Amino acid sequence: MTQDTSVDEIQSQALGALGAIDDIRKLDEWRVAYLGRSGRLTSVLRGLGALPPEARREVGQRANMVKSVLEKALEEKEEVLRQAELQRSIEGGKLDITLPGRRPNRGRLHPTTQVVREICDAFVAMGFQIVEGPEVEWDYYNFEALNIPKDHPARDMWDTIWIDPPSESEKPMLLRTHTSPMQIRVMEKTQPPVRVVVPGKVYRYEATDATHESQFYQVEGLAVDTNITFAELKGTLYEFARRIFGTERKVRFRCDYFPFVEPGVEMAIDCFACGGRGCRICSNSGWIEIMGAGMVHPEVLRHVNYDPEIYTGFAFGLGPERIAMLKYGIDDIRLFYSNDLRFLYQF
Ligand code: PHE
Repeated sequence: MTQDTSVDEIQSQALGALGAIDDIRKLDEWRVAYLGRSGRLTSVLRGLGALPPEARREVGQRANMVKSVLEKALEEKEEVLRQAELQRSIEGGKLDITLPGRRPNRGRLHPTTQVVREICDAFVAMGFQIVEGPEVEWDYYNFEALNIPKDHPARDMWDTIWIDPPSESEKPMLLRTHTSPMQIRVMEKTQPPVRVVVPGKVYRYEATDATHESQFYQVEGLAVDTNITFAELKGTLYEFARRIFGTERKVRFRCDYFPFVEPGVEMAIDCFACGGRGCRICSNSGWIEIMGAGMVHPEVLRHVNYDPEIYTGFAFGLGPERIAMLKYGIDDIRLFYSNDLRFLYQF
C-alpha cells in the first residue's frame, strides 16, 4: 500500500464519517480527528520529509487536495445541520416567527420640560442666553443682594426652606425660593450688556394644594444695558406672550411689589379661552396673570458694582407649570409631580 492510497483512504473514511454525523455539536470532534493539529491528514503531511523526492511531491499534492476537499465538505455539512436545526425548532414551536414583536415603550419629555424649552426658545429668539444656577443657595443671593435685608417683612413673600450650612460657614443657606438669585450671580461675573433667561427649580415651605407645590419651576429673565427703559420690558414681554399664547394676544401691566424692581409690575394676558369675555379659566375676569416683572432696582445694581447712572435693566419671573396648566387646561399642579403615566402620556 503506497502513501497515496492511504491519503485516499483517509479521504473516504473522513467523508463517510462526516456523512454519518447528524448533530452540529459533533462536527468539531470530526474536524480535530481529520484536520486538526494531530489529525490524520496532518500527520501524513508531517511525514513527507521521510519520503523519496518524487513520492514526496506526489503525496504532498494529493494530501493538500484532500485537505481542501475535507474543509469544503465540513463547511457544507455545517450549513446543512444549521438549517435542519432551525427547521426543527420552528416545527417544534420553540420559535414562532409569526408572533408580533413587543413594541418598546417610547420615552418622552415631561410636560414641564416641554414648556420650559418653549419659553426659553421664545427668549433665545430675541437674543437671550440660557444659564442655570444652584438650587442650594446662600441667603445673600436669594435675599440680601436682591434688596431684601434680614428681618425685612418682604421676606414673608417667600416661605423659605432653610438648610444647615456647612460647619465651617456661619452664612445662612437655603433652598432658593425663586430663580432671582441668578440675576446677582450673572451680573457679578459679567459686564453689561446682559441678556439671560434662567430656567430652574425653586422651593417653598408651603402646604400643597391644586395651585401650590413645595417645589416647582421658574424661568427668570434679566436684561441690563445702557438705554433700557420700561418700553423694552413691555415690548419684550408682549412679544413673548404672543409667541406662547397666540399672535392675537393683548397684555396688561399693573403695579405690583417686588423688592428688587422699581417700578414692579404683574403682567396679564387677555384670556385666550374666552377672548376676554370671562370664563372659568380666567375666573370671569377676562385676564390671566402670567408673571412678575419690573425695572431692576438701583440698589441691586449697586450690589454688583454696576453704575445705576449708566446702566438700567428689566427683570421678570414666571412659572412654567402655571403656563402649562393654562395652555393645556390642567387643573392641579400636583399632577406634574405625581409621576402618573396616564397624565404624562397626554403630552
Ligand atoms: N422672583 C419673583 C418671585 O418669585 C418673580 C420676579 C422676578 C418678579 C423678577 C420681578 C422680577 O415671585
